[in-house]
Amino acid sequence: MKAERIVILTGAGVSAESGVPTFRGPDGLWEGHRVEDVATPEAFAARPGVVQAFYDARRARLAEVAPNAAHDALARLDREWPGEFLLVTQNVDDLHERAGSRRLLHMHGELKSAWCLACGARSPWEGPLAGGPACPACGAKGRMRPDIVWFGEIPYHLDAIDQALAACDLFVAIGTSGLVYPAAGFVETARFAGAYCIEINLEPSDMASRFHEQRTGPAGRLVPELVEALLSARAAA
Ligand code: APR
Repeated sequence: MKAERIVILTGAGVSAESGVPTFRGPDGLWEGHRVEDVATPEAFAARPGVVQAFYDARRARLAEVAPNAAHDALARLDREWPGEFLLVTQNVDDLHERAGSRRLLHMHGELKSAWCLACGARSPWEGPLAGGPACPACGAKGRMRPDIVWFGEIPYHLDAIDQALAACDLFVAIGTSGLVYPAAGFVETARFAGAYCIEINLEPSDMASRFHEQRTGPAGRLVPELVEALLSARAAA
């Protein structure tokens, strides 16, 4: 496999081995929650306390988890890959950056960011948002929401992602069910650009047939193997 320009897409499966629950499936985060009760702007307008508590709990959990071998391998690839590289994550945890990834875009927002609806500022955030803390930028109280892209909202960085996909020659999707657009459609853009497309997932995803190659198994084993192979091939070239 020859590659120069790599785009990687990650989903909840890449953080599963760190102990962060995925969304769908048994024990998934949506078990016990209807998506429309916690992950839509309408839910936030109707029951802000419930939504803040849901995300406050997820933010607090980040202190108890650590990057796994898949995050570490992707950070290594970012560090050592001399060509174009972009890691796009749907995840709102901070495990990719804690592993050391730099060429990284969070398309669905970040738990550790708060968005002030009074002034529009986005501020780094560690603690709870319940209780209506003041915005560090404008001082308004009770106007901060999680900086998370909810269903019905437009994901972040789509122009930059589209440009990278249109120019890539290797696209790898890792640990994502392929059910949520636009991310589920990235494989089509990459294919159209002529990229070789690999899926790494515990089971074939809904989009599996669109990939040239599927690697089935845990990301913590398969991602380090892929990264090692890419870097060795590059060194030998
Ligand atoms: N290694 C590889 N894949 C795994 C692992 C693992 N250790 N564990 C689980 N998976 C796979 C599952 O088989 C599943 O296909 O990861 C996928 C996770 O799918 P989802 O829970 O649907 O997560 P994701 O695809 O990231 O969801 C997309 O949906 O709810 C929204 O905004 C939310 O960003 C999220 C988006």
